[in-house]
Amino acid sequence: MTSPYGIEGRAAIVTGASRGIGLAVAEALAAAGARVCVTARDPEGVGRAAERVGGIGLAGSVADPAHLRELTELALREFGRIDVVVNNAATNQPYGPLMDADPDRWREAFTVNVEAPLRLVQCVWRGWTREHGGAVVNICTEGAGHVGPHVGAYGTGSTDSNRTRDTASSTDFRSPPPSASAHSTSTSPRSIATPGSAYLPKTTVTGTARTGPGK
Ligand SMILES: NC(=O)c1ccc[n+]([C@@H]2O[C@H](COP(=O)([O-])OP(=O)(O)OC[C@H]3O[C@@H](n4cnc5c(N)ncnc54)[C@H](OP(=O)(O)O)[C@@H]3O)[C@@H](O)[C@H]2O)c1
Repeated sequence: MTSPYGIEGRAAIVTGASRGIGLAVAEALAAAGARVCVTARDPEGVGRAAERVGGIGLAGSVADPAHLRELTELALREFGRIDVVVNNAATNQPYGPLMDADPDRWREAFTVNVEAPLRLVQCVWRGWTREHGGAVVNICTEGAGHVGPHVGAYGTGSTDSNRTRDTASSTDFRSPPPSASAHSTSTSPRSIATPGSAYLPKTTVTGTARTGPGK
């Protein structure tokens, strides 16, 4: 049966796809007929995820600009196209009272949560989207609107991240040729039970990232 999403044969990059929401998204894209390239830092996790989605993977940190260039080159080499970018990788560190937060770790979080999504979109824009169009999906967070205790760094970074991801990839997604269209969307999950949300009180978790058979 043809996928109702019209994604059959398209190619996608999903960051932070070794577990949690990213893995669920990668699996959903693959199930809809897309070819998927996954990334995360842990090579074993990346290998497992690539196998699960029947796609390819490259281990590395999104904080490393060279990794983002290599990721883009790999997907273009293997798939010949990149139709979808899902900016999902993020960190909620440094966790704890802001008054105790190490500003250097705060800066690292901004690199992962704010700078990396822009860099990846720029790489893909230059390599594919500018000429052929495509879509960017930014996984943001509701936490930007109401920052809770101990997640001040994540919350403030998320506010910038939401804005950067929105403006970098929609306002500036201009002038593709008439035959192509480029667009972006952001989605802000509520509390989803994943390894990354394990620090949240159980009562605040409202959903699960469904992966694997029987989802
Ligand atoms: N879960 C929730 O309740 C919730 C709510 C709102 C928004 N979100 C957002 O949803 C997204 C995914 O959250 P999640 O709960 O699924 O997180 P998670 O379970 O912690 O998974 C994070 C994924 O990102 C990868 N990752 C982390 N740092 C990375 C880096 N520097 N470079 C490359 N990959 C990196 C991790 O693999 P490695 O450790 O191997 O790198 C893993 O694959 C995040 O953007 C988060 O802000 C989640």
